Amino acid sequence: MLGLVRITSALVDPALLDLPWSTPLEQWPADHLVALPQGISRHVVRFVRLGGTVYAVKETGERVAEREYDLLRALERIDFPSVQAVAIVADRADDDGKPLDPVLITRHLQFSLPYRALFSHTLRPETMTRLLDALAALIVRMHLTGFFWGDCSLSNTLFRRDAGAFAAYLVDAETGALRSRLSNGQRGEDLEIARINIFGEALDLQAAGLLHESIDPETVCEEVAQRYKRLWHEITYEQQIERDARHDIEGRIRRLNELGFDVAEVAMSVVDRGAYLVRPKVVDAGYHSRRLLRLTGLDAEENQARRLLNDLDTHRAESDLTDEQQAAHRWLTEVFEPVVRAVPAHLRRKLEPAELFAQVIEHRWRLSEAAGRDVGLAPAVQSFLADILVHRPDEQAVLGVEVPTT
Ligand SMILES: Nc1ncnc2c1ncn2[C@@H]1O[C@H](COP(=O)(O)OP(=O)(O)OP(=O)(O)O)[C@@H](O)[C@H]1O
Ligand SMILES: [Mg+2]
Repeated sequence: MLGLVRITSALVDPALLDLPWSTPLEQWPADHLVALPQGISRHVVRFVRLGGTVYAVKETGERVAEREYDLLRALERIDFPSVQAVAIVADRADDDGKPLDPVLITRHLQFSLPYRALFSHTLRPETMTRLLDALAALIVRMHLTGFFWGDCSLSNTLFRRDAGAFAAYLVDAETGALRSRLSNGQRGEDLEIARINIFGEALDLQAAGLLHESIDPETVCEEVAQRYKRLWHEITYEQQIERDARHDIEGRIRRLNELGFDVAEVAMSVVDRGAYLVRPKVVDAGYHSRRLLRLTGLDAEENQARRLLNDLDTHRAESDLTDEQQAAHRWLTEVFEPVVRAVPAHLRRKLEPAELFAQVIEHRWRLSEAAGRDVGLAPAVQSFLADILVHRPDEQAVLGVEVPTT
C-alpha cells in the first residue's frame, strides 16, 4: 500500500505525491532525478524534475525543515535573494513502516552556479574578487533587513551571472533568524562566522589545487569582511553638511543608487549654526532591478538591469518620445525582444535573456571601439552569436536550466 505522507505547501503540485516518498532520498531511482551540480552539504540533497520545473529536495529533521521553510517564505515576502521554499513532506515511512526523515523542497534556482562549479578550474583572481563582492553585498543586504544568517559560507550561497559580475543568493537558511533590526554585535558575530567558514573553504580549494597561486586563503576571508565593512559604512555613515549644501545630499543619494540601493528618506538633525547631520535611510538593494521591472516587466539582476536601462535611456534620448513608459515599451518590442529572438533554439540554453542582451551590448561596444565607429546593433548580434556564443564552453551542463523557448 502506498504510505500516506503529510505535505505542507502553499501551492501543492499534485505531481509531488507521485514521488517515491517511501524510499530514502539517497536511493531514489535515477529516472526521477536531474544531475545538477551542487555544493557540499551534510544532508542528502537531490534534484527532481516535475513538469517543466526542477526542484531541490533535502532530507532533514522535521523542526529544522519547518523553521527553514518559514524563514525562506519570510525572505520571499521581502523580496530577498534566496531560494524559494515549496513544501515540506513529513510522516514518511518505508515499506516496512520504518519512519524516514521529512524533506524540504525548494525550487531550483535557474542559472545558478554553486561555487564548486565555478571552481571546476582555477578561477582568475578578478573572478574571485567579483564572487567575494557579491557575497559581501548579500550579507550587507541581509543585515539591512534584520536577517541574521548564522552560517554564511560559499557552499550556502548560489551565484548567478550578472553582466560581468555575480549576484549571490542564499540557499541554506537553516540557522537564520529574521529580526526587526540587528545590533552591531550581532552583525559582527555573523561576519565572524562567515570569515571562519570561508577560510575553511578556501583552504579546501587550495588543497585541491583550485585556488589561483596568487590567492591566499587568509586574504580571501579577510577581503569579504573588508568589503562588507566598506559597503556598510558607505550606506550608513552620518554626514555633516552645511545648510546650503543640498547638493551634497543629492550626491550621496545618487552614489547609493549607483551602488544599487534605494533610499526611502533622509533623516536630518541640526548640529550647530546651520550645519546638518544627515543619515539616509536605505530601504533595499535592487534599485535598477526594480526600475527595469516597473518599466518593462523584465526581471533581471542588478548589473544586468543597469546595462539594460542604460541602453533603454540612450534609445529614449535618441527617439522623439518623452514619455518614459512609452519609450520603454518601444525599446522592449523593437530592441530587446528582437535580439533575444535572434538566438537560434540550440543556443538558447547558454545564457538567460537579460544576460545575453547585456553581453551583446558589451560586445557591440568592443566592436565599435575596434572599428572606431558604431557598428550598430544587428551586426553586433550576428557577430556575438557566430563568434562568441557558439564557442562558449558548454555552460548549459553546469547550469541545468529550463529556459522558456518562446
Ligand atoms: N533550490 C536550490 N537550487 C539550487 N541548488 C540548491 C537548491 N537547494 C540546495 N541546493 C544545492 O544543494 C546544496 C546543499 O543544500 P543546503 O546547503 O541547503 O544543504 P545542507 O545539508 O543544509 O548544508 P549544510 O551542510 O550547510 O547544513 C547547496 O549548496 C546547493 O548547491
Ligand atoms: Mg548548506
